Amino acid sequence: MNVYDSERMAETLVGYEQTDSPDDADMILLNTCHIREKAAEKIYSELGRYRPLKDANPDLKIGVAGCVAQAEGEEIVRRQPLVDLVVGPQSYHRLPEMETKIQSGARALDFEFPEEDKFEHLAKRPKAKRGPTAFLTVQEGCDKFCAFCVVPYTRGAELSRSAAQVMDEARNLVERGVREITLLGQNVNAYNGHPSGLAGMIWDLAAIDGLDRIRFTTSHPNDMDDALIEAHGSCEKLMPYLHLPVQSGSDRILKAMNRKHTAESYVRVIERLRTARPDLLLSGDFIVGFPGETDEDFEDTLALVREVGYGQAYSFKYSARPGTPAAEKPNFPADLASERLQRLQALLGEQQRATQDAMVGREVSVLFEKPGRQDGQMVGKSEYLHAVHVADSGAEIGDLRPVRIVESGTNSLRGKPI
Ligand code: 5AD
Ligand code: SF4
Repeated sequence: MNVYDSERMAETLVGYEQTDSPDDADMILLNTCHIREKAAEKIYSELGRYRPLKDANPDLKIGVAGCVAQAEGEEIVRRQPLVDLVVGPQSYHRLPEMETKIQSGARALDFEFPEEDKFEHLAKRPKAKRGPTAFLTVQEGCDKFCAFCVVPYTRGAELSRSAAQVMDEARNLVERGVREITLLGQNVNAYNGHPSGLAGMIWDLAAIDGLDRIRFTTSHPNDMDDALIEAHGSCEKLMPYLHLPVQSGSDRILKAMNRKHTAESYVRVIERLRTARPDLLLSGDFIVGFPGETDEDFEDTLALVREVGYGQAYSFKYSARPGTPAAEKPNFPADLASERLQRLQALLGEQQRATQDAMVGREVSVLFEKPGRQDGQMVGKSEYLHAVHVADSGAEIGDLRPVRIVESGTNSLRGKPI
């Protein structure tokens, strides 16, 4: 979602163009993540590096956006006085006024949860051609309050954009060359801006000519309703890939995490999804070292991973976040968390490898996104989100072509045009 937000923020700043080099910049806006301590702390070392740039160019303005801005607010300017602007993820439609303010030499800080709809006030999206894949935020915020998670505090309550707004934005993207849209939300399957929920929204989007692929992320198991499961079986444009985090395989830990589901209920949802779409590639998120996690709890997580079989996954050591209920609990031994993370990642890595290797010999469709390193090579994604390199494909960026997978490499597949 930060990629999407960054794109929208850049669009609000009229008169600026993007540069790849901080030395050339008149404004540097850091978009930040507060989900784990490491990500949040990185911002301060990054900001420290801008001191010489600011000395060299006194007109350089520096801003911090995103969830760290939301959570730490004025603390940011206290810790790093060179910051001119702090803007939370719900207020970035106000960037143009904030930019005027900082140009006059004042500081601009805004991390309120505004009354107005940010999306109604954002600059109209441009008409310029763009790459074949795009993100589109349809839902923000979270009401689930998992005990470890800052999202309900940084992104606020669940809020869905109207179906009409989503359709307009999707049509704009398709007119500009987009063929694949990933619908975004912290809890995207709780989307209720369409009378038939996320499934209804997906079906409406699927009717747009020129839009060939739809994905969505990230979902909560309890919001995987019948219609959405059914859409995975019957909506051709909905890609056979699903990121459905479970966090832990132990019911005791799931309860302590306030996840409001059990390992068993999660596995049942997966079974129903696989009945609807047998080739669905599953992805997940896992946390190890949640306070109180015993050897047995961790073994339950490994057992769940073995039972489900993931094609791809993200796993993290628990990070205590200020203001969350779990942060009140005793710390978990760091060494043990590292050891568990290693074991979990080894298992997930094996599954990922096996899933990728099993693609060899299969025909997939590839949406080409960019040229590869070698001459004549193009790189794109299969419907399962595997990166596929194809030599002499004859394809252009934005082409969707059938490809036979011939080799499975370290992080990507190699294919031949059919
Ligand atoms: N510590 C570690 N991982 C976390 N996540 C969220 N909060 C924390 C935390 N405090 C992970 C969860 C979530 C993903 C986006 O980040 O696995 O699904
Ligand atoms: Fe955080 Fe996801 Fe839980 Fe919401 S559902 S509190 S975003 S982990």
